[in-house]
Amino acid sequence: MAGFSSMVTLNVNGSSFDIEIDHRWTLLHVLRDELDLTGAKRGCDRGECGACTVLLEGKPICSCQMLAMQVGEREVTTVESLGDSSNLNPIQQAFLARDGGQCGFCTPGFLMSAKALLDSNPSPSEAEIRQGLVGNLCRCNAYGRIIESVQEAARLMAKS
Ligand code: FES
Ligand code: FES
Repeated sequence: MAGFSSMVTLNVNGSSFDIEIDHRWTLLHVLRDELDLTGAKRGCDRGECGACTVLLEGKPICSCQMLAMQVGEREVTTVESLGDSSNLNPIQQAFLARDGGQCGFCTPGFLMSAKALLDSNPSPSEAEIRQGLVGNLCRCNAYGRIIESVQEAARLMAKS
């Protein structure tokens, strides 16, 4: 890779990773194939489906549309940061309780868009939820239950 790669430090989920990056690699590729963080999914690979959504400095982005070299020192947050099966965070609990997914392929992206929305607006209206999730597609057409899940997450977060 000489001439086409650089050593960089990526800040992901509160940890620093020193990694040699091919200049052509997307952030999604690095997360999934170099750092083994496979929560973000490769759906369309062209910025249309939102399955690859992660947060960059708290804002949702399509990680398939950003070169890893462009990230710099900014903090990347992936779905792995939310919680695990023994310690689900309120958004994950709500998606489980409200059946906010079918095949689940889109779910990590929806979870991250929902996190960004609820972090900035803890009590969103249905219209605001729809707007917050506008970049995420669900091929199983679970939109109704996904919206209910975000509403439930807002309720759970208000209680905690
Ligand atoms: S995989 Fe990135 S938007 Fe579809
Ligand atoms: S649950 Fe299958 S794509 Fe959304």
